Amino acid sequence: MEVRVENGGSYEVGKSGWGQSLPVPSIQEIVRSEFQLVPQRYIHENKDGPIISEDLADSLEIPVIDFSFLAKGDEDEVQKLHLACKDWGFFQVINHGVKEEILEKMKAAVAAFFELPFQEKKKYAKAENEIEGYGQNFVVSEHQKLDWSDMIFLFTFPSQNRNFKFWPLSLPGFKEALEEYSREMQKLAEELQANFSVLMGLKRDGLKRLQGGELKQGIRMNYYPICSRPDLVLGISPHSDGTSFTLLLQDDDVTGLQIKHNEAWVPVKPIPNSLIVNIGDATEIQSNGMYKSIEHRAVTNEKKPRISIATFMFPDDEQEIGPVETMIDDQNRPKLYRNIKYVDYVREKFSRKMEGKAHTQFAKLRTSDH
Ligand code: OGA
Ligand code: NI
Repeated sequence: MEVRVENGGSYEVGKSGWGQSLPVPSIQEIVRSEFQLVPQRYIHENKDGPIISEDLADSLEIPVIDFSFLAKGDEDEVQKLHLACKDWGFFQVINHGVKEEILEKMKAAVAAFFELPFQEKKKYAKAENEIEGYGQNFVVSEHQKLDWSDMIFLFTFPSQNRNFKFWPLSLPGFKEALEEYSREMQKLAEELQANFSVLMGLKRDGLKRLQGGELKQGIRMNYYPICSRPDLVLGISPHSDGTSFTLLLQDDDVTGLQIKHNEAWVPVKPIPNSLIVNIGDATEIQSNGMYKSIEHRAVTNEKKPRISIATFMFPDDEQEIGPVETMIDDQNRPKLYRNIKYVDYVREKFSRKMEGKAHTQFAKLRTSDH
């Protein structure tokens, strides 16, 4: 299938039709063979440092949402959720009801995958014209700076979208762990989506209807090796997620995620057994900019590799995404984004490198358009 993208060119894409990414070396293998080495292609000359002081970072915490209250329809918690999405675009969810054992099994399965010999992992390598599998995404040029991470991305829901050729089925327990974990994330996501619907002035199933039924799901498992010069590299470049929203599970004891808040990079300190939720571009568009899809990045460290597991929830490819009627008010909140078919949005996203908010900009209406 040939895909044309707005910024010029066209390319052939594989089964998912979402995009492609150039092959890159495994940074885990580079570090394994020579720890001190920081190849030029990984050095980000213009990266912003930690803009805020350590002291301030310690006192700033992203909002914490108690999911058990949310599920009971507690008004105060729903209001807290509204403010979290509006002012931060990121929050940590506690009391989410997912058993600790399921989270631990999932983290262990991902750790075991990345510990496999390279030759074994390569069996699940993504093809250049696909985004699913082991490797790296968002690499669109030979000159682009690379991130200090390897990943494996797998489609998980609906279950018929699973391409088992990319799943490390020979790794004992991996399939079970991922299936169980993805099921739990799907349940959590449905309740969150129902809450977002109500907050946007719709019925509980409003967003579900608008986005073509059940949310879809894909899971990106990231591995950030140690780095001798964490000041020079980025684990993952600044970006916003092209999702409806994302659920992130991370190591309890290694901080790496940073989010852009009031022009500063704020580190997110993990609360053990919690999940981080962030608003994605589709929700920013649907909420007509009320809820922000915030830029975030990950940094690395010298001492400990880090694993994170991002569960991406997204609408149906064929669905048109645009500001929902209840969020538009011609006087006070004019329509800020155009309607766009989700698959077109995603293709545009995968045709560029990760770069801040460039993608949501693409869906923004120019002032002259309204
Ligand atoms: C992602 C992401 C952050 C992290 O995978 O989209 O933002 O902390 N990950 O790994
Ligand atoms: Ni992200």
